[in-house]
Amino acid sequence: MYQEMTVLLVIFLICHIILAADPDPVQDFCILNTKPGSQRTARFNSLPCKNSSDATTDDFVFSGIKTAGNFTKTGFSAMSVNPIIFPGLNTLGMSFVRADLGVGGINVPHFHPRATEIAYVVQGKVYSGFVDSANRVFAKVIEKGEVMVFPRGLVHFQMNVGNSPATIFGCFNSQNPGLQRIPSAIFGSGIKEELLEKAFGLSPRQIGKMRRRFIPKELRHPRKAPVATIRSVGSLVPHLLLETSSSSTLLVGLGTAQEQ
Ligand SMILES: *[C@@H]1O[C@H](CO)[C@@H](O)[C@H](O)[C@H]1NC(C)=O
Ligand SMILES: *[C@@H]1O[C@H](CO)[C@@H](O)[C@H](O)[C@H]1NC(C)=O
Repeated sequence: MYQEMTVLLVIFLICHIILAADPDPVQDFCILNTKPGSQRTARFNSLPCKNSSDATTDDFVFSGIKTAGNFTKTGFSAMSVNPIIFPGLNTLGMSFVRADLGVGGINVPHFHPRATEIAYVVQGKVYSGFVDSANRVFAKVIEKGEVMVFPRGLVHFQMNVGNSPATIFGCFNSQNPGLQRIPSAIFGSGIKEELLEKAFGLSPRQIGKMRRRFIPKELRHPRKAPVATIRSVGSLVPHLLLETSSSSTLLVGLGTAQEQ
């Protein structure tokens, strides 16, 4: 009996370890086959590989983040690089982002459900921080050459507090870190207004104002069914129909972390 329990515990721990990160690759690389149609319904963990005999050096080089992307109203630009736009990353358990902040620009509080992030300040002065599950905030201004780590799943944020543009290079320990922005998750997702009023102590008018600010234009009209989708967050990248480990199907925009 005791032995059985031990075996079960070991199995549980192994499963837990496996679930805590992207799966290990079973080959040197698996350059994503970007032929139309080959990705649409694939599980993210097993997107089809290009024939490795056809691999070239350029499959492992990405040149798309030399300059900043388009800026949002909050003075923020992000270009997320994942296997869809950099096929050589596929199965390697990593992805990255270039983020730029204009003077005073912010990256709204958000989190990545599946990855820890390392953020390196390439230029500028950035107030950076995160909040732990006890609501303690860990934040300070970091400058060019400094790095901050945002633990997986914790809410984090950035603001350019310098007098010049700031650039950050962020790296994730998942090829599909996921992104959930707090303002749009709360006010832009269609949660019943009455609940939001009670939760935040806001009037219907104030809720309406927040709604208009954060509900994406295409979703402003009431919907019949609850939408179990993560909205696309980029225009750069094709949408992918993905299955998550909980086997619900999500339409995930793997693109940029653009503020809406
Ligand atoms: C990969 O390419 C090589 C060389 O062209 C070929 O011999 C091999 O059959 C291909 N493998 C697959 C699975 O298509
Ligand atoms: C920036 O916006 C322009 C015009 O909408 C678009 O053509 C371009 O692809 C965008 N660039 C990026 C990096 O998203």
